[in-house]
Amino acid sequence: MGRPSTPEKVVVVGLILPDISRSTAEEHLYELEKLVETAGGIVVRKVFQERKSRDAATFIGKGKAEEVKKIVAELTANLVIFDDDLSPAQARNLQEIIGTEVIDRSALILDIFARQARSKESRTQVELAQLNYLLPRLTRQWSHLSRQAGGIGSRGVGETQLELDRRMTRTRIARLKEDLAKIEKNRETQRKGRHDVFTVALVGYTNAGKSTLFNQLTKGSAEAVDKLFATLDAKLQKSFFEMPRPTVIIDTVGFIRKLPHHLVASFRSTMEEAASADLVLHVINLTHPHMEEQLEVANEVLKELGVPPERIIEVYNKADLDVERRRQPRQHSSVTISSLTGAGIEALVRMIHDRVLAEGEVLHLEIPLDESKVIARLHEVGEIYHQAASDHHLRFVAWVPKEQIYQFSGFSSGRAADPIARIS
Ligand code: GTP
Repeated sequence: MGRPSTPEKVVVVGLILPDISRSTAEEHLYELEKLVETAGGIVVRKVFQERKSRDAATFIGKGKAEEVKKIVAELTANLVIFDDDLSPAQARNLQEIIGTEVIDRSALILDIFARQARSKESRTQVELAQLNYLLPRLTRQWSHLSRQAGGIGSRGVGETQLELDRRMTRTRIARLKEDLAKIEKNRETQRKGRHDVFTVALVGYTNAGKSTLFNQLTKGSAEAVDKLFATLDAKLQKSFFEMPRPTVIIDTVGFIRKLPHHLVASFRSTMEEAASADLVLHVINLTHPHMEEQLEVANEVLKELGVPPERIIEVYNKADLDVERRRQPRQHSSVTISSLTGAGIEALVRMIHDRVLAEGEVLHLEIPLDESKVIARLHEVGEIYHQAASDHHLRFVAWVPKEQIYQFSGFSSGRAADPIARIS
């Protein structure tokens, strides 16, 4: 499905209700503009409308819709995007008045997700979310979809999706759900098989600096880690920094305000991959004027995903830009860094290191030389701090992950294990 060769010209529209300030509304439209750019369009005008409440038929009121029509004609725009969810009827009415395609933030986000989806799983998820979004909107009046195929908001991952009628759409939805269930089962099996790796997921609001931090932590060590992760679109690489056990860093799709609920549901399993990580680094843009709101959005998603707070480290990023606002950590697991300059990364790495260590114990072992398999296993899963040979034995002081300890239970040298803290 080809994309238009010139960027689409977009008019964005925000409604200011009595419970939000003008500056908040401006910030929201600024964010919408960034989304439009991500989707390959350009914003040619931002339109605000102050009202006491939403208009049931046209959301912003008929008069304002007429005004948008004039702006669209004047600037030869080809798409209008509303910051809030429109009902199918509102979208249709607005389209009739304005005379060009009208979509909302949800459709735009879906479009961006469609561009980012790479794996079979996320492509299936995006298509499912898109069809669920389209279903109530599939009417004859919506024939613009076939006209505009390929433009923002109508890009799909499925080849035939736009030609489907309602009945076929329902059948397709049922089929996709089945596919997804199979993929998820497979993923669960893979996840269970992933014992020897400590996983650190980077999550946070879009643009917080996750990818930049990812590069810091992996130093571009391009080695593909594991085929097990093949169904995850999120980038995944080995940690550059030495850890007591193999550690991988997962970069994930960013969170965003007004992430449509059905999208969160569709992407649950992808996000769960991050949520089930051993450690979650919540990256926060310390310098953003709406940092608190972004924090809340991300915390809500994390809560929804069932990530326990003790598994999260809050990482306040972009400290190079804003020394003044350096905030006091709100919980003891937090750190202030600059992913760009590398400042504070060492402290963060130490924190990760400690978390990895806490997942195991230091053992004193005495293993007979002829138990070569056990010795090989120890080298494979453990971190050897000290090794000495006697006539018939090898003695070790080694850190071993909790779930592997049982393999060495018969070889304790009888000495009490040192507390982990003394070694770290
Ligand atoms: P999404 O992919 O949208 O989720 O974004 P992200 O969280 O991966 O953010 P990314 O790493 O792409 O960074 C976003 C922007 O912030 C880029 O322009 C970075 O160069 C910039 N940035 C990231 N970290 C820092 C930092 O510590 N200081 C400064 N000044 N800029 C930073």
